[in-house]
Amino acid sequence: MRVLEVKAESKISKVLIGEKLSNLGKYINNRKSVIITDSNLLTHYKNSFPQGVPVIETGLGEKNKTLQTLEYLFDKLIELEADRSTFIVAIGGGIVCDVAGYAASSYMRGLPFGFVSTTLLSQVDASVGGKNGVNFRGFKNMIGVFNQPEFVICDTNMLKTLEKKEFLSGFSEIVKAGAIKNAELFGYCENNSAEALSMNNDILAKMVYDAVMVKKNVVEADEHEKGERRLLNFGHTFAHAIEKHTGILHGEAVSIGMVLATKVSEKLGLVSKTVTEQIKNVLMAYSLPTAPNIDIKNLFEAMKQDKKREGSDIHLVLLENIGKAVTKKITYNELEKIIHDLRSDF
Ligand SMILES: NC(=O)c1ccc[n+]([C@@H]2O[C@H](COP(=O)([O-])OP(=O)(O)OC[C@H]3O[C@@H](n4cnc5c(N)ncnc54)[C@H](O)[C@@H]3O)[C@@H](O)[C@H]2O)c1
Ligand SMILES: [Zn+2]
Repeated sequence: MRVLEVKAESKISKVLIGEKLSNLGKYINNRKSVIITDSNLLTHYKNSFPQGVPVIETGLGEKNKTLQTLEYLFDKLIELEADRSTFIVAIGGGIVCDVAGYAASSYMRGLPFGFVSTTLLSQVDASVGGKNGVNFRGFKNMIGVFNQPEFVICDTNMLKTLEKKEFLSGFSEIVKAGAIKNAELFGYCENNSAEALSMNNDILAKMVYDAVMVKKNVVEADEHEKGERRLLNFGHTFAHAIEKHTGILHGEAVSIGMVLATKVSEKLGLVSKTVTEQIKNVLMAYSLPTAPNIDIKNLFEAMKQDKKREGSDIHLVLLENIGKAVTKKITYNELEKIIHDLRSDF
């Protein structure tokens, strides 16, 4: 097991990479606790949950990341007589952790909480950064709070029961971490795809550790997303629009978004075509999509409606090289022209 400490303003969060679900009891440490999880996790891992801890089950999928689910959790917590000394443990992917983290942060003005992060995407991305929350009126993560879990267990063994598509989509955020900040990790992803895809635990643990390290460094420098943290949005401006309009998985949309962002970097003369090819090839090695599944003109319209739009300009995260991302403010008009030029590439 390897431990990374994320030092946020409010508290220190420990990310335990390679720790096992069966050791969860050690971290709960005899405190009165409640587990929040979903039906898939219960099916596969109920027997490894700590004995005697009450479990609240939430519904599956993004459609349950709502204020209604929060109300349901509050009702259950009251029923279980949870008080300020109760410790909340979320066991699940990004959805369970985002909702449970927010419930824990707001119930009785905040209870201590920890996560067992069970998807590759949540281990490398949702586990660090302290963003908790729910969607509202069709806007993703509209209501929420920054608050760090006490610990995050990333048990790479649990990835074996994930659906293949869910597993693959997590690699997109690992490649992203390499592309923006760590050329060595990027090269490692290029050279070890076969072992990673065959679930070699050591290889996976190294990739998760390095990706979490990238996120930790960025988050520590900018917990509340004022500058540096924007780099983590590499590929995401395009991805959010793609995800919303086509319904593909987040990681799949990020994969397409990274190719588009690299192509924009190429058009602006920041990188050569070789870099774009490198990005595309590594994503293809993990069976991730690299071409938009939406007409590029519609994609631009969708991006214009993005909630993060700031006036007539947009902050795009672009590459200067593998391992070096930069943010650049360009106008929507400039972006529209570049996107129009990209049409012939797909
Ligand atoms: N807080 C953050 O910083 C942050 C970062 C990235 C993403 N997110 C959020 O995370 C969410 C997506 O998370 P996700 O990709 O983990 O999806 P998810 O939580 O929906 O999990 C995907 C599916 O896999 C199942 N599952 C989870 N772990 C499993 C396991 N070990 N074995 C078998 N099945 C398992 C789940 O039940 C679910 O059906 C989005 O809502 C996104 O906004 C948050
Ligand atoms: Zn993401």
